[in-house]
Amino acid sequence: MIVNYEKDGRVAIITMNRPEALNAMSFELQQELHSRLVDFRDDPELWVAILTGTGKAFCAGADIKEMEPGKPVNLSSLPATPMRGLNLWKPLIAAVNGWALGAGMELVLISDIRIASEKARFGLPEVNVGLIPGMGGTGRLPRMIPWCKAAELVLTGKPIDASEAYRIGLINTVVPAEQLMTTAKDWANTMCQAGPLAVRAAKEAMVRGYNMTLSEALQLEQSLHSFLSNTEDFAEGTKAFKEKRKPVFKAK
Ligand code: CAA
Repeated sequence: MIVNYEKDGRVAIITMNRPEALNAMSFELQQELHSRLVDFRDDPELWVAILTGTGKAFCAGADIKEMEPGKPVNLSSLPATPMRGLNLWKPLIAAVNGWALGAGMELVLISDIRIASEKARFGLPEVNVGLIPGMGGTGRLPRMIPWCKAAELVLTGKPIDASEAYRIGLINTVVPAEQLMTTAKDWANTMCQAGPLAVRAAKEAMVRGYNMTLSEALQLEQSLHSFLSNTEDFAEGTKAFKEKRKPVFKAK
């Protein structure tokens, strides 16, 4: 398996596992990643996923050894991931254990919560091989951090360390390497305490609303809000509040 997949209660742990190639995203790895993410999306028992890598890299980008200059890859024909073509409203946590470069960095950009080990490094080095990011790096990064910092990463190809990534607001927190997975699981478990349909609707409203006008985004928010107000989970959440106990949500 070049993408390991573990189900730990409500949490899926998806681990890129090609350490000898720094988890470079070969076609096969992307295909397996696609399958794991689709299983996670469709499994009602799973509410949150953690994405990480084995060895010293999270993912060092698209597999350069598979690239054939002169034969441009039709990126839209690649297996769908949240980077391109796969809508995923359940939360995704990136537990960044090491190098997150190119497509690896672009995986970070589509993750909702980003936990980094002190050993993590982030970059978009595509210009160094005569390419540009192809999985959303140029589109997403300038929308997330200041233009000059996005330009620094995209135009120089130079990586930044975890503390700089934290300083510019690219990631949520930096922890010692040995605390990476426990910290990611803590975040996952916190989100699993909340109403799962509400968490998904909130993410959908944020992701889809991001590219809408404010009035369109407010309409979308209103329709998701109305949907949630008719769910069993909302009835349970309000009942539990009045009874001063923890709610037991069922994603219904
Ligand atoms: N593709 C294929 N193989 C890769 C790779 C990649 N992106 N990154 C690393 N590897 C391989 C190396 O070739 C090496 O394999 P061999 O032992 O067979 O030679 C192995 O992984 C270990 O790598 P290094 O010996 O280079 O390790 P290092 O610690 O000296 O350097 C590194 C680490 C700085 C990350 C360096 O490996 C590197 O620069 N990698 C390339 C990063 C890159 O350019 N990524 C962008 C890819 S393009 C892209 O992602 C486009 C897109 O948006 C879709």
